[in-house]
Amino acid sequence: MKVLVIGAGNMGLTYAEGMSTSKLLNNNNIMVLDNSEEKLKELDEIPYFDACRDLKDCVPQADIIFIAVKPFHAESVFENIKPLTNKNQIIVSVMAGVTIAAMKKMSGLDKIVRAMPNLPAQIGKGLTSFVASAEVSEQEAGDIESLLSTTGKSLKVASENYIDASTGISGSGPAYVFFFMESMMKAALEMGFSNEDSRTLVTQTFAGAVELFNQSDLTPKEWMDRVASKGGTTRAALNSMEANKVDVLIRDAAYAAFNRAIELGEEH
Ligand SMILES: NC(=O)c1ccc[n+]([C@@H]2O[C@H](COP(=O)([O-])OP(=O)(O)OC[C@H]3O[C@@H](n4cnc5c(N)ncnc54)[C@H](OP(=O)(O)O)[C@@H]3O)[C@@H](O)[C@H]2O)c1
Repeated sequence: MKVLVIGAGNMGLTYAEGMSTSKLLNNNNIMVLDNSEEKLKELDEIPYFDACRDLKDCVPQADIIFIAVKPFHAESVFENIKPLTNKNQIIVSVMAGVTIAAMKKMSGLDKIVRAMPNLPAQIGKGLTSFVASAEVSEQEAGDIESLLSTTGKSLKVASENYIDASTGISGSGPAYVFFFMESMMKAALEMGFSNEDSRTLVTQTFAGAVELFNQSDLTPKEWMDRVASKGGTTRAALNSMEANKVDVLIRDAAYAAFNRAIELGEEH
């Protein structure tokens, strides 16, 4: 199997590096194409990448064409590759908001996978949700799931609506966690801790809580009940959060991202 990655930016390189570890590629090089000669020269130095300078040299031989350019470049990319593609090839896109219908129209191809990554993919801890058009076979979808999972975990969803929904949870989600961390760090600073100590207190608390959670079958609510005893300090904090309806605010934030993802999709 041969993969061509178009766009050697943050996401393109993250997936190219991840996929280069996949057994599915049988040590074949991953072809990577980018606009900039400077980037291509850097790619020339990496043994498992095959830097591609001319579409004619890489598009026809690719089984999977992985598109990782900004959404506003989608139209020109599809226009350029269209004369070189064939109906068996699969397009996998991580472009936010570019729908399967739009990609079918622009590319003239039927086998399309639309994926939504998140930032921790850069360190192999990502979550990529994806949906495949009906023309992608089970076997092909399985192979793509395995390629996407090289950057963390992947989740096959039933329809594009869930891609927009997962944007509101996992796609934008890391920023919600950073927001929570920043708020806790601000509180720690206010209580008199140094910057460095505030960072240590908060990061270790997040890492420890997630690890604890992952090592059990308990729900978050059950963990909260374990940590908070009646009349104690944690209960005082949780009561404050409940009184301020923080859960509703977080839900609203996730829906704001979900709705914005739908809006962006309608623009393409
Ligand atoms: N970053 C994230 O966390 C994230 C999360 C979810 C989804 N995404 C999606 O991932 C996609 C890529 O994002 P990114 O942050 O990786 O962008 P990026 O860093 O700007 O990378 C895009 C790369 O593609 C190149 N390029 C543009 N047009 C090209 C063409 N016609 N042929 C070949 N290469 C071309 C760009 O070169 P120039 O710089 O010269 O234009 C750039 O190197 C976007 O569609 C975004 O919606 C990103």
